[in-house]
Amino acid sequence: MAITKAAITAVAGFVPEDVLTNFDLEKMVETNDEWIVSRTGIKQRHIVKDPKKATSDMVVSSIQKLVEKTGLDLDTVDMIIVGTVTGDYPFPDTANIVAHKVGAKNAFGYDINAACSGFIFSLFTAAQFIETGFYKKILVCGADQMSSILNYEDRNTCILFGDGAGVVLLEPKTDGTGIFDAILKGDGAGCELLHMKAGGSMNPATLETVANKEHYAHQEGRQVFKAAIVGMADSIQELLDKNNMDVNEIDWLIPHQANKRIMLGVADKLDYPHEKVLINIEKYGNTTAGTIPLCLRDFEHKFKKGDTIVLTAFGGGFTWGSILVKWAY
Ligand code: COA
Repeated sequence: MAITKAAITAVAGFVPEDVLTNFDLEKMVETNDEWIVSRTGIKQRHIVKDPKKATSDMVVSSIQKLVEKTGLDLDTVDMIIVGTVTGDYPFPDTANIVAHKVGAKNAFGYDINAACSGFIFSLFTAAQFIETGFYKKILVCGADQMSSILNYEDRNTCILFGDGAGVVLLEPKTDGTGIFDAILKGDGAGCELLHMKAGGSMNPATLETVANKEHYAHQEGRQVFKAAIVGMADSIQELLDKNNMDVNEIDWLIPHQANKRIMLGVADKLDYPHEKVLINIEKYGNTTAGTIPLCLRDFEHKFKKGDTIVLTAFGGGFTWGSILVKWAY
């Protein structure tokens, strides 16, 4: 009997209209375009300016684009998972808000909080529901409105991130395509190097936490930089070893877009050609859980049925890992 795998059968994404360039940031903090481009590869990022919009709205726009593209009947969607650290509210979860807004009335869902690994953790979770035959159609979303948790007086973080969302449709396939394997990891010791200090049960919001600017993302950049290269490269190597594969069998590598130097560092560590590493960070910055689905959207035209694609991510937690995909269309 043919083995059922969960396959990505459609992709879409959304970034807000307003653009924040490096030149705009030069007027806000002590930085410059040359530094940002040479240290990160980022030229601009898209930012939600409308105070009435939140992460769910970017996810809704992504899903609407996917529906326009494919004609998907949202009544047939079983489940929606949203990878995000910037949900509309601490609770309820954004996935439920999204299901309501798009009118996916038969779908249940939840959020997965794994920072920059949010999309790959969500994707592999969703794949289990498809492979077991429990569900047939799942929308897996990665989205973050990072501008809502950035201190635009802190040049260490505000230059790096942007807002954006992406979605993939996951369906069963028995033709040798789909999600084949994953290596997923976590290490809570990384919490102190990348976190948002206040707003949770450890430090609930008070006038003091607001005055101390503790409701913003905090990152020890240099240490995260090193851990990200090692985490992504090692998880890719482990995935290859587990599947008796050579790195040259990967047709496309899609790394989480945190920093161009990190992505090329991963490729160098694996001796993998730079031209097969898919990069769009120059346009969007780091949209956290949004980066990988936005890459899938931007580079979809390059993929052929049967292509071997590896998705890899590293982020707050620490969380990290890699997924092996055989492209389905
Ligand atoms: N503009 C200009 N100068 C800046 C700057 C900015 N925005 N940010 C830092 N600098 C300065 C530093 O103060 C430092 O100056 P000093 O040498 O006088 O002390 C110098 O530039 C080098 O800083 P450093 O932190 O060593 O730079 P870096 O090469 O490590 O790059 C990051 C900094 C943040 C870009 C990089 O560490 C990084 O990308 N980290 C991981 C990022 C990430 O996206 N993580 C998310 C999850 S994976």
